[in-house]
This record gives sequence, structure tokens and C-alpha cells, in this order.
Amino acid sequence: MRKKIVAGNWKMNNDYQQGLELVSEIKGMMQDEVRTNTTVVIAPPFIHLYSLAQLIKDGSNLHLGAQNCYTEEKGAYTGEVSAEMLKSVGVEYVILGHSERRAYFNESNAMLAKKVNIALSKQLTPIFCFGEVLEERNSGRHFDVVSEQIAQSLFHLGADSIPAIVLAYEPVWAIGTGVTATTEQAQEMHAYIRKVLTSKYGKGVAENSSILYGGSCNSKNAKELFSQPDVDGGLIGGASLKSRDFIDIVKSMA
Ligand code: PGA
Repeated sequence: MRKKIVAGNWKMNNDYQQGLELVSEIKGMMQDEVRTNTTVVIAPPFIHLYSLAQLIKDGSNLHLGAQNCYTEEKGAYTGEVSAEMLKSVGVEYVILGHSERRAYFNESNAMLAKKVNIALSKQLTPIFCFGEVLEERNSGRHFDVVSEQIAQSLFHLGADSIPAIVLAYEPVWAIGTGVTATTEQAQEMHAYIRKVLTSKYGKGVAENSSILYGGSCNSKNAKELFSQPDVDGGLIGGASLKSRDFIDIVKSMA
């Protein structure tokens, strides 16, 4: 059975103190209110990771993710952080290929294939993001764009590795815009992604792989999005910065 996951991507928000406060609140609310077995991941900037690992380690049912890692093991790569370093502070997940990294930091499908490899080799779970821009959807190329992103970054892997990756479909036109994909658009694309995985790896692998939706998901629309058969949870940006909103999204996962 594939996992249900809600992951919060803080992006470049919250200073150190604000980060601790937010996670303390989330931890308390999780204990008081949340009864689902959804896996809840928090992905703050790097500087928060060590302290948050201490804060959540006593059975809070929260998991930590980073927002990026580098392609190489170690060495002279000023400013970069390795998968091994993340692992050493208690990180379990790493977001790779977010559209902001693709757009502002020129991350290509080939580079992301390397990042996925190194993350898997250190037993980190990649949350692999992909999705089309508006122009690609309007011209009817969204399915091809998505299958190409998946194929070029993941299809070198063996079948065993695929369920160890969380896929996150994030239409770029929905990220941070307040324009969410409709439930029909999300379900249609998620079913297509599962078909792409089935044709390469077979039905068993496709059925065991979690596919999240991301892009203006909030406490009002989450329930309907998550009710779709191929939507296994969400990657949440803006709405993960407020404890109430984030917990309400977690609670929308039946
Ligand atoms: P958003 O961001 O929820 O603010 O649209 C989602 C994401 O970028 O992962």
C-alpha cells in the first residue's frame, strides 16, 4: 500500500526562531488533533534542520525534509549541502526538482537524475517535483512534458527504486498563484502519471508509488483534491507557514 503524505515546503521563509515556534505549534496540534496515519513532512531551509530534528524526535509523528541537495558526495563545492550531511542530522526526505530550482537555478532533468541517485544511495526519500508551465498546458503539451520530466530523471532506475521515491505533480501555473488545478485536472494528470509508471515498470510498482499534488493547495480545497483516487497527498507551500492551515490540510487526508 502506498503512503499518504502531506509535506510542507517552507521555501526561503521563517528565521531560526520563527521556525522553532511554528514546529512547536504543529507538534502540539498533531498530538491533540490528528488521528490519521498520514505521513507529515516538514521541509524548512537547511539551517533549521538540526534543531527541528531534536524538537520532533520524541514520537511526534513528524518527519523532516530538506529542499535540495547537491549532486556530488563531498568536496570543493562552496555553498552546497550533501545528501550525507542531511542524513547525518536526521533528515529523511529531500525535495528535488522543484520548479523554482528548475527556473532560477537551471536544474535540468539530467542533473536531477544525479541528485535522485545520490539521495537514494544515502537512504533519503526524494520528493521529486515536476509539472508543466501554463503555455505548455494551453498548447496541450502538458502530458508530454510531464512524462519527459519523469523519464529523463527517473527511468534509469530499476523497478525497486521507484516506490522509494515520492512523486509530486506541481503545475507551475498553480504554484503560489492562488489558482489551484481543478480536482478533475489533478486526477487526470495523476492517473496519467500512474499509467506512465505502469508502462515502464508494471502495475505493482505504479500502485505502490505515492503521487502528491502541489500548487495553491489550502485548507479549503485539500479535502476534495485528496479524495481523488490517484492523489496521495499534497506538497504545500504558502499554507504550510501557518500551523492552523497546515494542520487542517493534514486533517483533510481521510
Ligand atoms: P504553494 O507552493 O502551495 O504556495 O502554491 C507549492 C509548492 O511550491 O510546493
